[in-house]
Amino acid sequence: QDRVEQPSGEMTANKGDPVTLHCNYSTSATNVYIYWYKQLPNRSPTFMLSVFSFGKGTTVDEFKDRFFPTLNSKSTTVQLMIKNLHVSDSAVYYCALQPTVT
Ligand SMILES: *[C@@H]1O[C@H](CO)[C@@H](O)[C@H](O)[C@H]1NC(C)=O
Repeated sequence: QDRVEQPSGEMTANKGDPVTLHCNYSTSATNVYIYWYKQLPNRSPTFMLSVFSFGKGTTVDEFKDRFFPTLNSKSTTVQLMIKNLHVSDSAVYYCALQPTVT
């Protein structure tokens, strides 16, 4: 069964700092498809970027400069590094795992 988890909970950091968000997953899929979403208060989550274990994901333009995903299929972990925090980065971030179709 496919599962994904975000252990970090709430994080606080200063403007200008870097911060890294974490996710871990378990899946039977060999190619893992991970998607990150950003949710501002009273809004729906919006797609930011995708990262795959094989092949290149995509990143929405506004996140290209400062948001860097990594996927480690050995440790089954995903990280999203945000460089040079802006106040507008304050939000809820979700990582999602595309389910395996069998
Ligand atoms: C994520 O990692 C934690 C700590 O190692 C582990 O207990 C948990 O089962 C993992 N979650 C998934 C979805 O694999």
